[in-house]
Order: sequence, then structure tokens, then C-alpha cells
Amino acid sequence: MKKRILTGDRPTGKMHLGHYVGSLKNRVKLQDTYEQFIMIADVQALTDNFDNPEKVRASIKEVLLDYLSVGIDPQKTTIFIQSFIPEIAELTVFYLNLVTLERVLRNPTVKDEIKQKGFGKNIPAGFAMYPVSQAADITFLNAHLVPVGEDQLPMIEQTREIVRKFNSLYGKVFVEPEALVGEVKRLPGIDGNAKMGKSLGNAIYLSDSEEELKRKVMGMYTDPKRIHPTDPGNPEGNPVFIYHDVFNPNRDEVEDFKKRYKEGKIGDVEIKTRLFEVLNNFLEPIREKRSKFEGKDKELDEILLAGTKKTLDVASETMQKVRKAMKIDYF
Ligand code: TRP
Repeated sequence: MKKRILTGDRPTGKMHLGHYVGSLKNRVKLQDTYEQFIMIADVQALTDNFDNPEKVRASIKEVLLDYLSVGIDPQKTTIFIQSFIPEIAELTVFYLNLVTLERVLRNPTVKDEIKQKGFGKNIPAGFAMYPVSQAADITFLNAHLVPVGEDQLPMIEQTREIVRKFNSLYGKVFVEPEALVGEVKRLPGIDGNAKMGKSLGNAIYLSDSEEELKRKVMGMYTDPKRIHPTDPGNPEGNPVFIYHDVFNPNRDEVEDFKKRYKEGKIGDVEIKTRLFEVLNNFLEPIREKRSKFEGKDKELDEILLAGTKKTLDVASETMQKVRKAMKIDYF
């Protein structure tokens, strides 16, 4: 039997190049060798967007289109919607008994988000608990592998703790899942920020048009100390070179750019113009695939409905095991 993958994304907007290198690329690659489930995490999206359900609703199709456009194939991968699986909520309630408040608030990703969102002392309880709910997401299908971005590693760690606790209390029901992070762990933003993020306004989206891409690439942050093309520049940690390293298949060209940059023998415009071409070549087939599905609402709904139905069947199998282990299978 194939091992299972479970992973997912909050539907809060479009997906970007950071998502691609961090996780989507692995998902496309692994959908043949694993039984893959991808969850559109609307319940989790609502933990910090409960006052903006319209945004979450509008992003469901957006995220689905992003998946399909990069080559996630609904014939191989089951795509489903979190809120339609009540078993996840059920399992979350049981898991909450196995975790302390102190421990959830110590999760570094949650801590960062609390700061970033400016919750101060008014942290919504649902938000603080989302790692526990994420443990339920991962385990209700007994997934072995979780392809995610680096920022999600603390969630997998916490899931493993919950699994160990559950298994030691009630008997072995769950496997301890492993995280899988992309070869390129973190892609900087076009503004030089260490992380590309939709809330940071520094992302190149998978659905960006050629014009948008050009505008973004030509305006990218580079070595701030370099004023003239004849000034020696530093390619280290420079986002333009990091993107070249990741996306430009012509290694010799990239090495030549770096050398000339260090010597002050090449202008930013030349390097950026080439980067635009490289990224455009990468995005072109993605845009094309996207356009095949765009506006086909019925087809898109069917993908989600079929995926959700299949997931529900697996979910009820796990819950029977959980009820038995927890001795709440009264009848
Ligand atoms: N936390 C993830 C994000 O912010 C989304 C997510 C929810 C997820 N449940 C998951 C990822 C389970 C992997 C596994 O994008």
C-alpha cells in the first residue's frame, strides 16, 4: 500500500513562488509515489479571518487553480475542503486534552504570527489552538509525510508530540508524521525581506501576468551599496541572484553574472532583464494550464466535491479506531 501525504494551505489569497519552491514542487513530484491528500484549510484560515469570510470564500477557487496550474493532478491527488470534514473538529477536541496552553503559545510560528497580527493580549483562542487543529488535520488520515514550507516545521513537531501522547495513553493508533521541506527552504521577497509572503506585499504570484512580473523584477531590491554599474557589488544574499540560482537553468550564465557583478562589470538592468525572462519561462506553462481551468466553475466544484467525498470515507475509518482506543465506542 502507498504511504500517505497530507498537506494543505490556508485559502487567504493567491500562492507565490515561495510556496512553489517550499512545498508545491514536492507535491507535484510525489503524487505518483504517495497517496496524496491536499486540504484547503478554510477552518484554519478563519482563525484569523473570522471577520472576513468573503476573503476565505473567494480564495478557495484561487488556491485550487494554483494547485492545478502547477500540475497537481486531481486524478492522482485528492483535494478537499477542511470545513466539510467534521472528524477533524472532533479529533481536535480530543487532542486539546493532550496539550497545555503554555505549550501552544510556545510554538515559534504561532508566536511570530501573534506579533505580526498585533493581537497583543487579545489572542483569539481559536487562533492560539490552531496547531492542535493542524495535528488533527495531519493525523485524521494517518499521514506519513507532510510537504510544507519551513515555517510549518514547529507544527509537525507539535503533531508528533500529540501522536506520542495519544499512542501512549490509548494505544497505538497513529503514525508519527515526517515533514518534508523543499530543497530551497526559503525564498526572499522582492523587497529583500528574508521571506516572501502574501501579507508582506513582496511576492511574485504564480498567476502574475507578464507585465506584473516585469514590473516586480525590474523593481527588485539588490545590493543597496551599489550605485553605479561600475561599483563592485555583492551577490551574496542578494535576492536577484538567489532567484537566478533557483530558477535559471543556465548555471554558467549565473556564475558569469556573479563574477561580473563583483567586478563592477555588469549593470542591474541586464541581470534583471534576464531574470525576468527566466521567471517568465517558468510561469508561462503555469499560466497556460491555469487558463484551461479558469472560469470552469462546475468542473472545479466537481474536483472539490469528489475529493471531499473520498476524504470523508477515510476519515470515518480513522474515527472508529479513535473511538475504540479512547473507549468511547459505547454502542
Ligand atoms: N498552516 C498551513 C499554512 O499556514 C496550512 C495547513 C493547515 C496545513 N493544516 C495543515 C499544512 C496540515 C500542512 C498540514 O499554510
